[in-house]
Amino acid sequence: MKVLYATSELAPWVKTGGLAEVAGSLPAALRALGLDVRVLVPAYPELLQSFPDAEEIARPGGLGGLLPTPTLKQALAPDGTPLLLLDYPHYFDRPGNPYLGPEGRDWLDNHLRFGLLSRVAAWLGSEASTLAWQPAIVHCNDWQTGLAASYLRYLPRQRAKSLFTLHNLAFQGLFDHASLFELGLPDEAWRIEGVEYYGYLSFLKAGLQHADAISTVSPTYAMEIQTDAEGMGMAGLLRRRAADLSGILNGIDTTIWNPATDHHLYRTYSARRPDGKATNKAELQVELGLEKREDLPLLGVVSRLTEQKGLDLLLEVAPQLFKLPAQLAVLGTGSHELEMAWAKMGRTHRGQCAVTLGFDEALAHRIEAGADVFVMPSRFEPCGLNQLYSLRYGTPPLVRATGGLADTVIDATDEKRGNGFVFGPATADALLQALQRAITAWHDPKLWRRLQKHGMARDSSWAEAARQYVELYQRL
Ligand code: ADP
Ligand code: GLC
Repeated sequence: MKVLYATSELAPWVKTGGLAEVAGSLPAALRALGLDVRVLVPAYPELLQSFPDAEEIARPGGLGGLLPTPTLKQALAPDGTPLLLLDYPHYFDRPGNPYLGPEGRDWLDNHLRFGLLSRVAAWLGSEASTLAWQPAIVHCNDWQTGLAASYLRYLPRQRAKSLFTLHNLAFQGLFDHASLFELGLPDEAWRIEGVEYYGYLSFLKAGLQHADAISTVSPTYAMEIQTDAEGMGMAGLLRRRAADLSGILNGIDTTIWNPATDHHLYRTYSARRPDGKATNKAELQVELGLEKREDLPLLGVVSRLTEQKGLDLLLEVAPQLFKLPAQLAVLGTGSHELEMAWAKMGRTHRGQCAVTLGFDEALAHRIEAGADVFVMPSRFEPCGLNQLYSLRYGTPPLVRATGGLADTVIDATDEKRGNGFVFGPATADALLQALQRAITAWHDPKLWRRLQKHGMARDSSWAEAARQYVELYQRL
């Protein structure tokens, strides 16, 4: 079975969050099951530099609207996955991240940039394609490729079926009415049953509306988004499509995220030889300018600093946390306000609180390994990957019971299976109580080792999820 996996980010080259990690590891897991999966991704500078010999294989033209004619180049990722690089330098050869310019504002032509990505995904899945390789399935991800499902729907001669995977309902890809024409979509698409969303064109809604099937990245999130409280304006549509909607829990790249081989760590370790974890804690304390204290629990955070992640709640209780006492290491980037507030917290509580503003892959690994507890008080969390890394690194996660966090973390009160700490209400009080519970537990070595053992034994590989995706493709 041939599958085109369309994505706007791809680890390890271009990453702003979990989507990049998934796109960078799920295709290889599907290929291991015998599928012919190829990944379509914009040819950002990082990719062109890594694959200078990428070979031109097509020039998709006549795409409609104001869409230009790009070049498609093919390269082979180190894991054996063929990459189709969508090269159009005027759109993709830019500084900053895929969505924002250096000043942190959305690029003004994002509808055209990701419209082109979507349109080329549909082109590859249609008879217009000049490639011999014809996918049976176009697998789109999030709003950036959501429009591919609409293009396929409105093409006169449709070929491929489409699957739309929702990684986050909060990013809806909203653009004004004029973009309908610029993107070459037919007037009939401008309807409530089409891509129109409260006077805007929504790429996300397009995917949800027109894909042959929809999946999201955890079973609990699949339920939550069908409720008005958590459906972010799409609940009605999602309820209508409930029969076509499933939740498949993400896996992780278990070769990159493996404490036994991780070259970012000060010392590797494993469930059978856990000693190295203490070295990682001590060295991390030194690296971050924290007091070198074995006798204090060190809490870790690696996160986008946004409303979603609930780190404003942690900010509120941090001063009380330091009195318990405990240390805190935060790594993140995001909203200006949260960045400033966390930087200030780091300055006020120097020695106990280390705040690093930035995106730092290596430090993320060292925090996973060096922290005692990993904190994720998310307001909502479609899946969440960091709690999966934490479990594997013997760093029990403390999470709010939502989305994929609820599906993967089991509270310590469950003696047989407990692997972390779970709290309910999204309030500072509830978070503080959970933190107190975790710190008390940390002072009980026997209980702590049990939690770590349960977490480290969890199978977070892609095997099960890949099997479920294959089933879904086959149904389509
Ligand atoms: P989301 O995609 O919502 O941001 P996930 O938990 O699915 O959340 O994935 C986030 C990914 O991005 C993880 O791999 C995490 O380690 C990484 N990450 C987030 N912020 C940073 C940062 N500041 N530095 C390094 N890695 C980060
Ligand atoms: C999104 C979600 C996150 C999920 C990731 C990968 O960014 O916020 O919870 O893990 O996508 O699916």
